[in-house]
Amino acid sequence: MNAERLIDTAKALVADDKGLLAMDESDPTCNKRFAKLGIPQTAEVRRTYREWIVTTPGLAESISGAILYDETIRQRKSDGTPFAKALADAGIVPGIKVDLGAKEFAGHPGEKITEGLDGLRDRLAEYFQMGARFAKWRAVIVLSDSLPSRASIEANAHALTRYAALCQEAGLVPVVEPEVLMDGDHTLERCDQVTQEVLRTVFSQLYRQGVMLEGLILKPNMVLAGLTCLKQETIDDVADATVRCLLRSVPAAVPGIAFLSGGQSAKLASARLNAMSVRHKSRLPWALAFSFARAIQQPALEIWHGQEAHVLAAQRALYHRASCNRAARRGEYDAATDGETGSATSEVPRQ
Ligand code: 13P
Repeated sequence: MNAERLIDTAKALVADDKGLLAMDESDPTCNKRFAKLGIPQTAEVRRTYREWIVTTPGLAESISGAILYDETIRQRKSDGTPFAKALADAGIVPGIKVDLGAKEFAGHPGEKITEGLDGLRDRLAEYFQMGARFAKWRAVIVLSDSLPSRASIEANAHALTRYAALCQEAGLVPVVEPEVLMDGDHTLERCDQVTQEVLRTVFSQLYRQGVMLEGLILKPNMVLAGLTCLKQETIDDVADATVRCLLRSVPAAVPGIAFLSGGQSAKLASARLNAMSVRHKSRLPWALAFSFARAIQQPALEIWHGQEAHVLAAQRALYHRASCNRAARRGEYDAATDGETGSATSEVPRQ
């Protein structure tokens, strides 16, 4: 393992106030988002979608790395350039989602366990050859009055850690994503309690299995009340709770924390990250960044709507959201002057 190279890559992914673009929806997830907009669900339309994303002018001003999916990393631009090379040429580090999805957790109704460890060593070696320099694995923790079970937290933390160790062995920076879902009517306090327990378990496993903390990125949820909870905290309260939760559970050796958006509206995700920067940045041991999928892509996807004539407007919207999030890392995002409307202001369910 080349530790220096891993550390350099991890640092580069959160440098210069940039963040990650998670354009790694699996085919079924991408198809569901297309279906809602009446966009045909074919490999070629998915390729076209990804082509205009990776060729968005100026994207590298705000995006340090882009997470691809197995289908996408094998696809090319119309001129024959592989997407991974097109990204690298633009100054964006190519990454790859390597889990095979969250499946029913046997013996634990309603809970999930992420699959994909079998054969992972070989897949990572292939992705490295294809240009990927970091990888992502998403664990899903379901929150309700009685969930998560300790079993689901431990099993998911163990799988995340086995993935992370294999990534570092292969020269890829692991993006470790234990997502506590926003669905439900739970309070912010309950999200905080569960997120802390999950993160402590994940880092205990990472320590036990010898994963190098300096060479990974954590991708957590923000600490929020559930989507249907009647009490929704202010932006500042969410920022404070999230930072406090992370300070209590994430070791200082980790170079960067890049949030998922988890179904928050694009504007709220930017505003909450901005509040964390304004109120806490100078006192944090790690960089606070973003690794959004919906909160960067969804407004642009809706503008595009599968129409060639809308590509330039969609690229402008994508560039805009990426820029808003870079501004948020600097504490310079202003929701009042963020002109975006439509889905930028509404929550986006995963399905
Ligand atoms: P969202 O930002 O849409 O939650 O997606 C992040 C992600 O990569 C989920 O795995």
